[in-house]
Amino acid sequence: MTPNAARIEGLFRAMSLHEKLGQLTMMRADFGNAGAELGAAKLAQIRAGGAGSILDLRGLESIQESQRAAVEGSRLGIPLLFTLDVLHGYETIFPIPLGEAAAFDAPLWQQTASAAAAEAAAEGIALTFAPMLDVARDPRWGRIAESPGEDPFVGARFAEAKVHGFQQGDLSQGATLAATAKHFAGYGAVTAGRDYASADISARTLEEVHLPPFAAAVRAGVAAIMPAFMDIAGEPATAHREMLDGVLRRRWGFEGVIVSDFCAVRELIVHGVAADAAEAAALALNAGVDIDMESGVYLEGLPEALSRGLVSGEQIDAAVRRVLMLKVRLGLFDKPFERGSRPLSNSQRQQHRELAREAARKSIVLLQNRNLLPLRGEGGHLAIAGPLSDAAGDMLGPWHAAGHAKDAVSFLDGLKEALPGWRITDGASLDAAREADAILLCIGESASMCGEATSRARPGVPDEQRRLAEDVLSLGKPIVVLTSGRPLIDPWLFEKADAVLATWFLGSEAGAALADILTGAVNPSGKLPVTWPYDAGQIPIFYAQRPTGRPAKPDDHDTSKYLDVPVGPQFSFGHGLSFSRFAYGSPQVSSKTVRRGERLFIEAEISNEGDVAGEETAFLFIRDPVASIVRPVLELRGFAKIGLDPGMTGTVRFELSADDLSFPGAEGESRLEAGEVQIFVGPSANRDLLKSCTVFVVKDST
Ligand code: NOJ
Repeated sequence: MTPNAARIEGLFRAMSLHEKLGQLTMMRADFGNAGAELGAAKLAQIRAGGAGSILDLRGLESIQESQRAAVEGSRLGIPLLFTLDVLHGYETIFPIPLGEAAAFDAPLWQQTASAAAAEAAAEGIALTFAPMLDVARDPRWGRIAESPGEDPFVGARFAEAKVHGFQQGDLSQGATLAATAKHFAGYGAVTAGRDYASADISARTLEEVHLPPFAAAVRAGVAAIMPAFMDIAGEPATAHREMLDGVLRRRWGFEGVIVSDFCAVRELIVHGVAADAAEAAALALNAGVDIDMESGVYLEGLPEALSRGLVSGEQIDAAVRRVLMLKVRLGLFDKPFERGSRPLSNSQRQQHRELAREAARKSIVLLQNRNLLPLRGEGGHLAIAGPLSDAAGDMLGPWHAAGHAKDAVSFLDGLKEALPGWRITDGASLDAAREADAILLCIGESASMCGEATSRARPGVPDEQRRLAEDVLSLGKPIVVLTSGRPLIDPWLFEKADAVLATWFLGSEAGAALADILTGAVNPSGKLPVTWPYDAGQIPIFYAQRPTGRPAKPDDHDTSKYLDVPVGPQFSFGHGLSFSRFAYGSPQVSSKTVRRGERLFIEAEISNEGDVAGEETAFLFIRDPVASIVRPVLELRGFAKIGLDPGMTGTVRFELSADDLSFPGAEGESRLEAGEVQIFVGPSANRDLLKSCTVFVVKDST
């Protein structure tokens, strides 16, 4: 037995049932006048061994005081696990995940997670409820903002980068956070984009679309998994034995902790699968949920469930062991006060701000530019209009942890700093704007319009802003800055505006990063991680659709299209302009044939035909045109970045294994079928822009 296992077994022998259930109980901080705190009743519960982890407590002093209550005040002295939603930064706020996904930059994704971990750990936090890995194809759903977008391959790369960034290999080394992959699985598919609603997902779609990011997180060693709130075809994810015990534990060998979502165990009663607390607790525990977040149902219902024979003592013990093992891995037993003992240096904080600016620049997507950008001239009059022009707080977006509006750079402030030679007027009247040399129109969503419980049936620019926008757009010259947590469906805007930037919620350095792009100091390189619909009636719309037997043909009535709106999106997945122009050569593949176990190397030349240096993200898609199961029209299998000076040509390289050309069989096994596979390389999922080549999968005779 390892020393850690021995330590856990020693504790076990001493633990009462109440103390065991306490370890399975996560308690939320109270919210008093001074912010989050633990009141006397909760501190007493901790001393009595009735809580093992705490949600939402912030501030080093409060955290250490509660830790003392557990370590010095409780009978067994088991340390508490402090948890928080650190999604895209702690004090220094990085772009929201959907924005950061637009950077298509795995090293960046990892660095921002490490920085967030260092800041949060310095305040005593030990576990974050991130990364959020829900594949999101429905912009009505407000939580699309927290996700890396519509594609499972991108989700998987995002998952690995975030898990490595938060956890940094060795959780005990202090500047780390245990990561939680959430929400397992299929939460992005809630009916009609309405948050918490049921999701009815086929086994194949679950397997091909929703599970890969979680599988990648588990392979990367993620410490915890959170089941989703909703039910999957009638089985709440919190009580889903086949998903939690079956897929996660048995098939993928996940040995970490499964922590419920907020009150989700008690909500099993509301879902209608449990009659009382004992049944709800038993359903969740039997499915595999170790920690009950906030609902208190494990404490309340498990003793009764035991006496009714609904659960066994062994199951409770197994869950407690996993929780204690996580605390051991985090170093909490040896050094319960370590997190928080080493404050960040000023230079570290400064580095995080620089990283936030870099991440924000890389997340901005130039959607449209009819020769308006970058801003020209040494000076002039720039009029800024719109409710998001000086909205530092909104720049932080949803889930901004310890981020403060006062520390964030608004668009207005960023531009004032970057354009000393310009006269900049905010909130200008139409007349003043008419006189201006350039107009920046900052519209979109406020931070409170996206994230949890913010579904919108019509995700677009709010009506009152549309009126302002139409007036300003009639002047002919505005540059539109769209702030949002999702694609905003406003075809009128894209018809009328010559320049539009999608800026998501860019975080602490929003204004500085926007100024870097507008002035041309930095060439935009972000690309859409999600298809941008033309009309809400097209939702769900995503590039990896299955082909139909009757593909859309404009002149053929009986084909797959709409009578009233176009069938194509406003912007494709991967769309994003640059101040450079990139031209793609045809991809070359290292071998015409491939067998199981072999690898393929694909190269494509890209030339910068513009006048300025720029960075391009190239995508590699595959298509299997004839297979036993209809395969999507395109499936992403790689993305690669290249920086090119004007006039230069370079090569992007991709590596595929034969397995990357396979698809899941009925049991989830990888199925590699003989025959042709097309490989496409290009700037987005717009088929007209892709260049292709072909390989043949050869089956061994065995
Ligand atoms: C509910 C959300 O669904 C989840 O993502 C979050 O981690 C928890 N609340 C805790 O705040």
